[in-house]
Amino acid sequence: MNTVRILDKRFRISIPAGEIQLKIEDIADRINSELKGKQLVFVVILNGAFMFASDLYKLITIESSITFLKLASYSGTSTTGNIKQLIGLNESLKNKTVVVVEDIIDTGHTLDVILNQLRVLEPAEIKIAALLHKPDSFKYNYKIDYLGFGIPNDFIIGYGLDYEGFGRNLNSIYTLIDN
Ligand code: IMP
Ligand code: MG
Repeated sequence: MNTVRILDKRFRISIPAGEIQLKIEDIADRINSELKGKQLVFVVILNGAFMFASDLYKLITIESSITFLKLASYSGTSTTGNIKQLIGLNESLKNKTVVVVEDIIDTGHTLDVILNQLRVLEPAEIKIAALLHKPDSFKYNYKIDYLGFGIPNDFIIGYGLDYEGFGRNLNSIYTLIDN
């Protein structure tokens, strides 16, 4: 399948499934050697990162745990605007090495919210693993410790990423065809 249709839009394949899997093997190898001996907790940001996290975690050989968080948006007052809060964390991260697992880091706003809330829990250190990154729209200078692919500023779907809730089940990454 080189093109797919999701709702009203068409998408062209941009990162085939095989390339994604090879990259995840590289990331897992690096984590397994660089974070060996640490008390490791993987913190997966739902929804988009579920597929990446699943394939990555199967390749992790370090004794570690995994937990899943969601960023809930709710409307604040008109002055504070849209507030985002991390929900679902019920284990201690204190003095642990936390690996945040994200599908894509675009502007970095989501990551910034997550990091600020995780730091309060006093982990020993926080590492960031992201399958995808759009460097041209990134507004922060966090180091992404484990990155799959840097990509252009185009809208993509597949491998956990969605358009209006659909397309997450595709095992390759597809880019919007503008028409
Ligand atoms: P950020 O806060 O701008 O870094 O955006 C991060 C979130 O926006 C990701 O976790 C995705 O849910 C979503 N996102 C960013 N770019 C895309 C895309 O190209 N396709 C689908 N979702 C995206
Ligand atoms: Mg996401």
